Amino acid sequence: MKIAILPGDGIGPEIVAQAVRVLERLRADGLPIETDTAPLGGAAYDQYGDPYPEATQKLVRAADAVLLGAVGGPQYDTLPRDMRPERGLLRIRKDLNLFANLRPAVLYPELAGASTLKPEVVAGLDIMIVRELTGDIYFGQPRGVHINAAGEREGFNTMRYSESEIRRIARVAFGIAQKRNRRLCSVDKANVLECTEFWKEIVSDEARHFPDVELSHMYVDNAAMQLVRNPKQFDVIVTGNIFGDILSDEASMLTGSIGMLPSASLDERNKGLYEPCHGSAPDIAGRNVANPLATILSLAMMMRYTFGREDLARRIESAVQAVLARGVRTADIYEPGSDKVSCSGMGDAVMAAL
Ligand code: NAD
Ligand code: IPM
Ligand code: MN
Repeated sequence: MKIAILPGDGIGPEIVAQAVRVLERLRADGLPIETDTAPLGGAAYDQYGDPYPEATQKLVRAADAVLLGAVGGPQYDTLPRDMRPERGLLRIRKDLNLFANLRPAVLYPELAGASTLKPEVVAGLDIMIVRELTGDIYFGQPRGVHINAAGEREGFNTMRYSESEIRRIARVAFGIAQKRNRRLCSVDKANVLECTEFWKEIVSDEARHFPDVELSHMYVDNAAMQLVRNPKQFDVIVTGNIFGDILSDEASMLTGSIGMLPSASLDERNKGLYEPCHGSAPDIAGRNVANPLATILSLAMMMRYTFGREDLARRIESAVQAVLARGVRTADIYEPGSDKVSCSGMGDAVMAAL
């Protein structure tokens, strides 16, 4: 199990350190884990003048799986776009062909009171958001800022999806739905955008191969509303890159905190990059208060999807559940009466439960 570790920026190194403790425990138990660390994002720009430098490219291409913290920070926001941390993240996703981003919004019952929604609205929540990750307006050309025909400066991006890009993400989503409650909701803006009307047409066509899955369609604005009105109506959601980015942050609050939402970004052969859905949280970086559970749960997803070790995924998830059941809480999921711990304190609790 060759695992590349990319701590990144901001809280990245703090949360990844806690996940690495879990990895080391699995290694001590006899798993053949080999790890190597490299910079990505701002840390890589500082060291190499490139947010995705060659040393990192070499390491992640040779690895079976990648564990990433997060990238970005205000000190990098005025760099030329190609030098920015976020560009490093987009490049690694594209380079490794990680087109399928799985973001499971699962409520641990112990956190029903930590959500900003009423406990009965979120109790039992278990949604899988399947976000296409290497296409859409994120990568579409042309893009930029130019002088338009009226002589005025104008910014533009292009939303594009090829048929094959839509088919392959649709097949992943249908496949996941088959193993769950067999309901798939495709989210689009087909009433306005041709690109997403095409998305809807192709997803509907792929449904022929999955007759046991019930496919529905929803406009993204309605989906944003339905996610807070009645989130449990959803089983699997499939959507494009930008809608998936936004809806998954929204869904994270249903689980109590964005610090709880893990993710897997997979290629055709289940090589994967695993990272929390949140960012580098510059507002709390360096204070040892961030919630490391999304990163630790991303490691569970790595065991499940890349290494096919459902048993180890469950072992990590059970340890997290046990810790929450004991009332151990970082600040973002704190409730009066619970036991408030730091980032490394949460790591200690998970290690003890493991
Ligand atoms: P963010 O997710 O970093 O933070 C949003 C809010 O959530 C902040 O108040 C933060 O303190 C809180 N938060 C996030 N993770 C937390 C955790 N684990 N525990 C407790 N609280 C947590 O989003 P942002 O502020 O919009 O972006 C900050 C930087 O991160 C930007 O540079 C952005 O581009 C980058 N970013 C990177 C990734 C990534 O690497 N995958 C994802 C999103 C944003
Ligand atoms: C995420 C982030 C990234 C995205 C940014 C940092 C490029 O928000 O992983 O959700 O938009 O995909
Ligand atoms: Mn995001």
